[in-house]
Amino acid sequence: MSAFGLPPQASTIAPRVDHLFYAVLGVTGAVTLAIIVLMIVFGIRYRAGSRTRRSEDVPATQARARKRVEIAWTLTPLILFMGAFAWAARIYVVRADAPPDAMELFVVAKQWMWKLQHEGGQREIDEMHVPRGRAVKLVMTSEDVIHSFFVPSFRLKQDVLPGRYAELWFTATQAGRFHLFCAEYCGTDHAAMRGEVVVMEPAEYAQWLNEHRSALDMASRGEALFRQYGCSGCHGENASVHAPELAGVYGKPVPLADGSTVVADDRYVRDSILLPTKEVAAGYAPIMPSFAGQIGEEDILDLIAYIRALAPRSERPR
Ligand code: CUA
Repeated sequence: MSAFGLPPQASTIAPRVDHLFYAVLGVTGAVTLAIIVLMIVFGIRYRAGSRTRRSEDVPATQARARKRVEIAWTLTPLILFMGAFAWAARIYVVRADAPPDAMELFVVAKQWMWKLQHEGGQREIDEMHVPRGRAVKLVMTSEDVIHSFFVPSFRLKQDVLPGRYAELWFTATQAGRFHLFCAEYCGTDHAAMRGEVVVMEPAEYAQWLNEHRSALDMASRGEALFRQYGCSGCHGENASVHAPELAGVYGKPVPLADGSTVVADDRYVRDSILLPTKEVAAGYAPIMPSFAGQIGEEDILDLIAYIRALAPRSERPR
């Protein structure tokens, strides 16, 4: 436990968040204290019946002094608030920008559990094994309603929304088990939607990955799904249908039929599967059927992993 009963600081960002928290607490505490003291002092000094002059007969020098006081008490809080804003914005930016060498973990939230998948195909529910000292990037989505991924010891909280990918990254600094909560009311068992983040030493983690190795990694599972859902019938090598070639597409700009361009990232691939007529690649007829309601979020992540594996890693967008 750190000061004020806060949970341990178990990620690189945690001390930074705490410093800001203590600074804001200190400033607001000092202001509160000053107000209480002044209230008492003025209450005594200017109590009813005291012979202090009233405002009508304030001399000019005093009016000028008053103006200075007013400017001071307007500027001081402004500077303090802008300072707190800049400080918090800095932490926000650091938090939003995952290092390029971060390992990726995929999270699908649903009522009422956290489903996780590692790139190697290892799957877990309500438990997340990660190595200590390595940046981990989470790609998160929800199967149903809005949830919120909250690890107090990491000082991280991120809403997880259906229909889009939220990203979050952290580097754990302490081995151990840490609470994972859902921090957004999501129905009857919201309170039961919790889990644990298990931070392991790198060697231990490698061993854990090995012990939980699955027959197929995400990309291979995606390849199987690619055939199973019939994607290969049109996008495969020997397809007779005129459909966009997918090899090497991931991470590249895609010209669209409406003249605009998008980068083929996770979001684009997901939307292309579920809302194929939304962004049609230039030069192709909008003939692809929607797979909405037929493919689960986890399968979509596997399909994305497969399409991604068709592109060299250096060309993936960050
Ligand atoms: Cu999920 Cu609350």
